Amino acid sequence: MGRDRTLRLQFGNRIEVVCVVGTRLCTDVYGAAPADAVTFAVKHSDDVEVEIISDGQSEHAPANGGKQWPLDPKTTLSIQMTRPSTEANDNKVTVGYYGENGGHPIDQAGVFLTGIEISLDVDADRDGVVEKNHPKKAVWTWGPDGQGAVLLVNCDKENPYTGKEDCQDDKVFSKDDLEDMSRMILRTKGPDRLPPGYEMVLYIPLSDCDKVGVFYLQNPFFGQRYIHVLGPRKLFHVVKYTGGSAEMEFFVEGLRFPDAGFDGLVTINVSLLEPVAEVRLDRGPEACPRPLSELHGQGIPQTPIFTDTVVFRIAPWIMTPNTLAPVNVFVCSVKDNYLFLKEIKNLVSKANCKMSVCSRYMNRGDRWMQDEIEFGYIHAPHKGFPVVLDSPRNGGLEDFAVKEILGPDFGYVSREPLFEEVTSLDSFGNLEVSPPVTANGKEYPLGRILIGSSFPLSAGRRMTKVVRDFLYAQKVQSPIELYSDWLTVGHVDEFVTFVPIPGKKQFRMLMASPSACYKLFREKQKEGHGEAVMFKGYTGTDTKRVTVNKVLSNEVMVQENQYVQRCIDWNRDILKKELGLAEKDIIDLPALFKMDKQGKAMAYFPNMVNMIVLSRDLGIPKPFGPIIEAECCLEQHVCSLLEPLGLTCTFIDDVSSYHKQLGEVHCGTNVHRKPSAFKWWNVTP
Ligand SMILES: *[C@@H]1O[C@H](CO)[C@@H](O)[C@H](O)[C@H]1NC(C)=O
Repeated sequence: MGRDRTLRLQFGNRIEVVCVVGTRLCTDVYGAAPADAVTFAVKHSDDVEVEIISDGQSEHAPANGGKQWPLDPKTTLSIQMTRPSTEANDNKVTVGYYGENGGHPIDQAGVFLTGIEISLDVDADRDGVVEKNHPKKAVWTWGPDGQGAVLLVNCDKENPYTGKEDCQDDKVFSKDDLEDMSRMILRTKGPDRLPPGYEMVLYIPLSDCDKVGVFYLQNPFFGQRYIHVLGPRKLFHVVKYTGGSAEMEFFVEGLRFPDAGFDGLVTINVSLLEPVAEVRLDRGPEACPRPLSELHGQGIPQTPIFTDTVVFRIAPWIMTPNTLAPVNVFVCSVKDNYLFLKEIKNLVSKANCKMSVCSRYMNRGDRWMQDEIEFGYIHAPHKGFPVVLDSPRNGGLEDFAVKEILGPDFGYVSREPLFEEVTSLDSFGNLEVSPPVTANGKEYPLGRILIGSSFPLSAGRRMTKVVRDFLYAQKVQSPIELYSDWLTVGHVDEFVTFVPIPGKKQFRMLMASPSACYKLFREKQKEGHGEAVMFKGYTGTDTKRVTVNKVLSNEVMVQENQYVQRCIDWNRDILKKELGLAEKDIIDLPALFKMDKQGKAMAYFPNMVNMIVLSRDLGIPKPFGPIIEAECCLEQHVCSLLEPLGLTCTFIDDVSSYHKQLGEVHCGTNVHRKPSAFKWWNVTP
């Protein structure tokens, strides 16, 4: 630590000071000397170390005072305690001043010292245990060699009788609530009591009071009680000094995620305050030290003589890519999706994960499970849990996340714009994340977030700023903005997805591709299947007979799809660059689009890229492509691309329940996945 503090000696007086072990008192011997003094000597007790510093040279002063040094304006004494005191004022330094003829001192200045050890401790080395006095606990750094403690936003809800997250109140509901918090220990060692007027105060800056909460465990042996000591409206807390060797245990919770204007760091300080009067003179009562409580509001504050600081970073909200194993699949039950639910259920049982069906009562007819929420998680060395991000889109599913997902060890966060208009691009089908990648020499071990926006030059729709700001501020999955406004619905999941390659730490990026579809159809035409019919068994009102020849000869459609392909390619190029992908990493899935009256695109047949990925099991929108030799040539083609990678394709009929309403399987489902094994603090953002 090596923190220095100036102490002014006064001849003829005895000063009493508290010295924190590890800090030094710097004393000007010359200024305190009587006029006719020319040399000085120093005597001190055993637990004190005194150095005479003169012209950059330092010399140990022997305890017995046997040596005299010339008085010089540039000479100072450096005093430190080597161990904590057992009693107040149990150590002493005496400076004797001598005149021309040496012999007896003509005057003396004395300091009585009380040594105390103070350290505010956290888990700065991120191993889940609070160590003692980590040298870098006050400086938070990223990466495998970094250090600094981590806080979770206590955004789950242990209390079944409230609708709010745990961090919204200043109570500890249960042991489980406490486990979400980070431990902080204030260790002190010293005499039974501090000299009168000294106090220890724990405090946070004003700017952090809405971001962090601290609880103190009172009386850990009988009937534990947790007292809220710091947080909103509580900027400081006077800590009771108990003497001897003491460990006071605190529990710290995060209240807010990193966001625009908040980098995620919070600071907690402990200071030892000294009363105003260092010197006890008999000049009347005003010179007597008084406790902090009396001084408040009276204009004579105590001064901090020692401060110890710890810094926490609030854990970011992290998204989970398709390459992570599924835990639970969420889907809505609506009046017309019974068969769809059955097919999803079959898929889920193959993939061996759970499935939660959101009831009609809860979803109020809103079937777009993907759009309302995004699953992610938060993680600290001591604990982690999933957290759902609620989108600003508020359909029938508006209350779903709070009512049915928020709970013990399942957190909740949302961002809603105050003024900006919410558009379709604010739905979370427009918020995806890539698997881990390395691009342009930079590693993204947690992948990169993908959001759809408008074309840089156009004044189109864009995801609302509050959500974008939130996503960028999490730092560890550096977002990429794509161009999705060319679509009627405008979601990135309409043209890109990712699939794991089972057994390998690899993935493929799948993209919707009109040109792949035309290529396939032309091949089929050449093979003599031009009259093969699409949309067989297609539920709904389209009864027109559509053949391969008809599709290929529709000039309007050809042109529209050329435009669509260009929009997709624009994104393809960004993705290749920003995710560091090569052509071999990308698989083009046949797709066709048609334009709406506003010139925006929507899928012509069920858009296969909009699939649900459950490890090796893919639930793909059944495309109802041309039937050739009793087989759908689109399905057959896609299987030939994906099954050699070890993936299993299941085609799910979503026509009447989703496709006709401009969504597909992915839009109608949502997957809570296992967190990444990679620890986010090891990222270098
Ligand atoms: C906490 O202490 C550090 C130095 O240790 C200081 O920079 C910071 O300003 C202090 N915080 C407050 C709120 O005083």
